[in-house]
Amino acid sequence: MSAGDERVRVELGERGYDILIGAGLLERAGEAIRSLRKVRRVFVVSDTNVAAAHLPRLEAGLAKAGLAHETFLQAPGESSKDFAHLGVLLDRILERRPERGDMLLALGGGVVGDMTGVAASLLLRGVDFVQCPTTLLAQVDSSVGGKTGVNTRHGKNLIGAFHQPRLVLCDLGTLDTLPQRELLAGYAEVVKYGLIDEPEFFGWCEANAAAMLAGDAAKRAHAVAVSCRAKARIVAADERENGVRALLNLGHTFGHALEAETGFGAELLHGEAVAIGMRMAFDLSVRLGLCPSSDAMRVRRHFDAVGLPALLSRQRAWRAEDLVAHMGHDKKVRDGKVTFILARGIGKSFVAADVDIARVREMLAEEAAAA
Ligand code: NAD
Ligand code: GLY
Repeated sequence: MSAGDERVRVELGERGYDILIGAGLLERAGEAIRSLRKVRRVFVVSDTNVAAAHLPRLEAGLAKAGLAHETFLQAPGESSKDFAHLGVLLDRILERRPERGDMLLALGGGVVGDMTGVAASLLLRGVDFVQCPTTLLAQVDSSVGGKTGVNTRHGKNLIGAFHQPRLVLCDLGTLDTLPQRELLAGYAEVVKYGLIDEPEFFGWCEANAAAMLAGDAAKRAHAVAVSCRAKARIVAADERENGVRALLNLGHTFGHALEAETGFGAELLHGEAVAIGMRMAFDLSVRLGLCPSSDAMRVRRHFDAVGLPALLSRQRAWRAEDLVAHMGHDKKVRDGKVTFILARGIGKSFVAADVDIARVREMLAEEAAAA
């Protein structure tokens, strides 16, 4: 750790770990890993986009610390995050005769991070892994909290484990090569923390998001640090999502349905779907008489200002029935009921397990008709 790094602790007892946020962390990854414990070998998992831009810095950092390492690359994108690719990855690692003292390292976005996490949870019944997230979404959300997963034909992330990383290194320089659309999609997960329970952070976002997205380094550091602190606090309180962690799903019940309808691909990125979903969660809260309409309008205005989508795209014919059906297949269904995260205002989100689905269908039908 250097003086310029921000350190956030995820307080989970013996499974607790640090998130370091700063510049040049990939070059210092070897030293940071060495300070954790004695490590024999590091198996690096990445995708070809990320490797082209950032792998040399990481490999140089591991070599400088005297850490033996091998790298496994996968094709970029969600289609690499399935059982078949997981099997291939584990097989390739097993060919190298791994031992329990070896470590996996994810260098990439949420796809690489989720895959590497599952692999680490299974390999030799569980080995340590380090997250080096390279998308904004992964730095502020997926690399923290130990949810790992792969997709199956039955749905996304239905196979996986809670397996916490030993360390998370958020190298802010990696964001400089991230396509603007991916950066903006990741920003949806940043602003989410303000909407959940930090209204003053939502105010900061309103004032600073444009500069942050345009590349202001200090504002990026602040946005990532506040987000990681918020996620660390929530995960420490409820690691296995039996309560408060569900708030992190704000916008996700709607968003997941939109992603399922559009095929989990480039038509609608996860963060974009979450942005539309958060706006819908606020509008539903207004309809149910729970939230002032001025707060929902403020959310919508902010998304419009930064360029996040807030409405259903006009490029396709939407059907409320289809979206509601997707919600029924969500992991957030309990006793056959769909759970929503609603809001009494900005920063006042809560878990609602008893929403009348007819009201949801009615809202979606109106939106579909207007799209
Ligand atoms: P991603 O990993 O697919 O990365 C997006 C694209 O950006 C890819 O093409 C990738 O190659 C490229 N890329 C990544 N970093 C780059 C960089 N620094 N420079 C240039 N290109 C770069 O997508 P994502 O949005 O990071 O993650 C989405 C995944 O995360 C989904 O599978 C989702 O299910 C998962 N997720 C998991 C959690 C969790 O808690 N585990 C939370 C949210 C999302
Ligand atoms: N991304 C939601 C969670 O980690 O719980």
